[in-house]
Amino acid sequence: MFQAAEERCAIVALNSKPEEFSAMSQCPHINLADPDSYIGGVPFEWLRELREKEPVFWQVEPQFAEGGYWAITKHKDLDYVSKNPAIFSSAERTCLMKDMAPEQLELNRMILINMDPPDHIKHRRIVRNAFTPKVVDSYHERFKVIAKHIIDQIADQGRCEFVQDVAAELPLIAICELMAVPLDRRKDVFEWTNIMIGSEDPDLSTSEEDGQMAMAELFALGHQLATDYLEGKAVAENTGYLMSALLDGIEGEKLNEVEFSTFFLILLVAGNETTRTVTAQGMRLLMEHPDALQQLIDKPDLIPDAIEEMLRYHTAVVSFRRTVMEDAQLPSGHTVKKGDNVVLFYHSASRDEEVFDDPDTFDITRAQREDVRNKHRAFGIGEHFCLGSHLARLELQVIFEEIIPRLRNPRLAQPVSWLRSNFINGIKEMHIEFDAN
Ligand code: HEM
Repeated sequence: MFQAAEERCAIVALNSKPEEFSAMSQCPHINLADPDSYIGGVPFEWLRELREKEPVFWQVEPQFAEGGYWAITKHKDLDYVSKNPAIFSSAERTCLMKDMAPEQLELNRMILINMDPPDHIKHRRIVRNAFTPKVVDSYHERFKVIAKHIIDQIADQGRCEFVQDVAAELPLIAICELMAVPLDRRKDVFEWTNIMIGSEDPDLSTSEEDGQMAMAELFALGHQLATDYLEGKAVAENTGYLMSALLDGIEGEKLNEVEFSTFFLILLVAGNETTRTVTAQGMRLLMEHPDALQQLIDKPDLIPDAIEEMLRYHTAVVSFRRTVMEDAQLPSGHTVKKGDNVVLFYHSASRDEEVFDDPDTFDITRAQREDVRNKHRAFGIGEHFCLGSHLARLELQVIFEEIIPRLRNPRLAQPVSWLRSNFINGIKEMHIEFDAN
């Protein structure tokens, strides 16, 4: 399914490295920066080659003022960078893979994921209590009802477009309900987050401005909801738990309206696209591995382990960036200099041969031998470890518990259409068939 390395070479530009790095580069055919490198899926064969030959690799990226970035592919280096925010900043140029104009940079720095300590610690303390396992578990029964309804809609049809009909629905409905977004606005939210994430994909986004407009729309919706709530306007019954927790305050800490709006923005984007992607990738993997699917039908208790393996094997986030604030040596021995960009490749860390046995095999029983849950890096590690990890795991569990026994004999009806993105490992469309019931 993945393009062979030689085929990819045809679509990538040759790396031209800064002089001082020229002795380093053994893999000039590799281009992790080009979104075209991902149109057939994550280029795992390149990541494997880099881990082996050049784990800290100078990747030309003409968009960056510095001319490129260091691609971090080893688990131990990714951990070191993620756990040392004073050296590796998320705020300096943001953790996104694009340089920004000063006013855009200022706006983006108000979002949790683009903060450094001490601001980051202060903001994270306010919101983290809304995402503890105990709080998230209280949504379990409601999520089960939503998941059942989603599968009820398609079960007797024998076919569906899995991404929109199934994978997108639970994360979208769940976060809209938790944040009191009226359900008739959820298609707007779906469109806006798609535009923001899919800026490199011609099917989804038309321009950089569209992405900024979509961001402004989400921010405005968050602001409106906060204002309405603080003015005492009623929200629909049984909705808005998360919104009220954040605005009323938890343990004496609360968000103001602007903080709420920026947090709303990241929650809607981070909570939607990622869980949708892992649901779609997980379904694709189960269709490719019918023995694993049968094991799960026979023993549903294995579903949580299978989900950890899906997260390890084919997670949603491809990469996030950091800026080096002082010269530093990485555990693999490579030195990076103040001002350099480093980019963390999460799929690569989760398939590091030094950490996982036979990492390129999808094995839902792996968790019985290895500590997959704590060792994969689907949710990152350290300072910015995914705040929504419990929520994502619960959503994935609930939806697969509904899919696995009910969509029997699932198979692809046509080839999968991948998102053109070097940021999210997305599937745009996946038409499937199954035995109608
Ligand atoms: C399978 C689904 C998900 C994946 C793979 C995922 C992945 C990630 C990763 C890799 C990071 C680390 C970023 C960094 O180190 O710079 C992160 C951060 C974050 N995620 Fe998730 N995420 C998922 C679901 C969610 C959900 C459901 C939510 C909330 C509704 C969420 C909210 C966040 C937030 C707020 C952060 C920033 C935390 C901080 O900066 O302290 N994520 N996520």
